[in-house]
Amino acid sequence: MPVALITGASSGLGRALAVALARRGWALVLDARTPQPLYKLVDELAALTVVNAIAGDVSLADHRHDLGQAVQAAGGLDLLINNASTLGPTPLPSLAELALASFDEILQVNLLAPLGLIQQLLPQLADDAAVVNISSDAARASYPGWGGYGAAKAALDHLTATLGQENPAQRWYAVDPGDMRTPMHQAAFPGEDISDRPDPATVVPAMLNLLERRPPSGRYRAADFEPTSTTDAGAAADAGAAAGAAADADADADESYALGNTSR
Ligand SMILES: NC(=O)c1ccc[n+]([C@@H]2O[C@H](COP(=O)([O-])OP(=O)(O)OC[C@H]3O[C@@H](n4cnc5c(N)ncnc54)[C@H](OP(=O)(O)O)[C@@H]3O)[C@@H](O)[C@H]2O)c1
Repeated sequence: MPVALITGASSGLGRALAVALARRGWALVLDARTPQPLYKLVDELAALTVVNAIAGDVSLADHRHDLGQAVQAAGGLDLLINNASTLGPTPLPSLAELALASFDEILQVNLLAPLGLIQQLLPQLADDAAVVNISSDAARASYPGWGGYGAAKAALDHLTATLGQENPAQRWYAVDPGDMRTPMHQAAFPGEDISDRPDPATVVPAMLNLLERRPPSGRYRAADFEPTSTTDAGAAADAGAAAGAAADADADADESYALGNTSR
């Protein structure tokens, strides 16, 4: 039974990925800070697979150690999804107004925590494991108010690229999921109607397609891996050739993000 660890699994994209992987028979290690929604998810998934959920803040070393222990108990790790993230203060302040303490917190959660977890888990990663660091359009484009979050995500992209060079056995992906209708997105646009943004579950087939296709380590947009039919997420692999070609082209177009072919 393959094992995945997903951070920030109680809501939004993390939750949708946890549900999809559970349905496909993955054993899961999950976290989020707030216990109640996390354990509610565990109750929902318990009939499908083995789930070990640990409530805690991924920016804390002790919590990451606990996650490492859970992975060890599960027998190793085939997939790590660093999904938990923070926008920092909202409404999003300009960089002139972003308190350095707030920026520090953004960096702790969005950048140092994923690397800390990777450092903790590297010895337990299977040779053919994949690590997915959830990125953002804001890592590459600049928008007023998004400077702290965007800088952290850009740095996460860079760490991902370097990790891919340093650990060619595994696949290392920075993935921009695109806009999604989630609490984080609503916090970024307070008071605005975000009902036109897609449900995070609609991003899952593309994520599964990416994982199935195993392109070279690099930065990708989930949109480039959308299956041609989303009626069945299981069709993701079938749709891979066309979508994957587009993604490869995207990665190849920017050599600073493409890592080259690290095929085993
Ligand atoms: N939504 C979008 O439009 C969008 C666009 C581009 C990229 N993204 C990226 O997609 C990923 C998922 O975002 P989302 O919109 O799905 O978010 P979300 O629905 O707000 O969920 C965030 C999850 O992370 C957990 N979390 C937050 N801080 C944490 C911490 N310090 N330690 C452990 N867990 C923590 C939250 O639970 P607790 O609060 O209980 O901890 C929750 O389970 C993020 O990396 C985000 O940057 C989102």
